[in-house]
Amino acid sequence: MNRRKFIIKSCIGCMSTGLVFSLLESCGTSKVLEASISGSDIIVPLKNFVDKNGDQPTFKNYLIIHNDILQYPVCVYRFDENTYQALLMKCTHQGTELQVFGDRLQCPAHGSAFNSQGKVENGPASNPLRAFPVTISNNQLKISLK
Ligand code: FES
Repeated sequence: MNRRKFIIKSCIGCMSTGLVFSLLESCGTSKVLEASISGSDIIVPLKNFVDKNGDQPTFKNYLIIHNDILQYPVCVYRFDENTYQALLMKCTHQGTELQVFGDRLQCPAHGSAFNSQGKVENGPASNPLRAFPVTISNNQLKISLK
């Protein structure tokens, strides 16, 4: 391969990679967020659920919350402007960290699955996920870790 062909192929490869990443990002309905903790509450500004696509805002279905204090991430589902569900992403079978696939949390260890309310949809886990109380105040979600 001569130099010219090599440069052309390299540029096409880079452009393709960039396009794939930008498409994946624009199709995403979730977001990973490093949230702050105040006292015993995780603080999540509601603006993090907003997607800025066009004139009409659309909303992410869920956020995945991380913080160094948390042993596991917390998945926060948004059902409507006043209804949220915060779930610890810890499998109730043997404690493996769960993965989120839309409105379902799945365990990579033995296949347990939970719905967006934290209820078991597929075993071997038999207990629901730990859910945290969520309140809304001053355009922020407060997720109580108590
Ligand atoms: S640890 Fe999750 S199914 Fe076993």
